[in-house]
Amino acid sequence: MTREITHEATGPKIVDEDDIAEQGNVAICMCGLSGNYPFCDGSHQVTADEEDGTLYKYEGDDDENVRHEIAEMVFTDSE
Ligand code: FES
Repeated sequence: MTREITHEATGPKIVDEDDIAEQGNVAICMCGLSGNYPFCDGSHQVTADEEDGTLYKYEGDDDENVRHEIAEMVFTDSE
C-alpha cells in the first residue's frame, strides 16, 4: 500500500503548549490524512483496507477522504 496525499500548506505548524493541553495525549499523524494535522484525528482508519502493491490517491481535505486507485505516478521532470 502506498498513498499520494495533496497538501496546500507551504509552512510548518508550530506546536505549542496550548496544542498539547487541548489535544491531551498527543499522537502525530503518520498517514497524511488527518484533518487536524499534525495530530492524528482517526482519519487513518480509511487506510485499513489498502492492499499491498496498490497505489492510492486521496482527494480533498474533507472528512470523507475520497480515495481512488491510480495506475502509476509519473514525474514530469524524470527522463
Ligand atoms: S495516523 Fe493519520 S489520522 Fe491517524
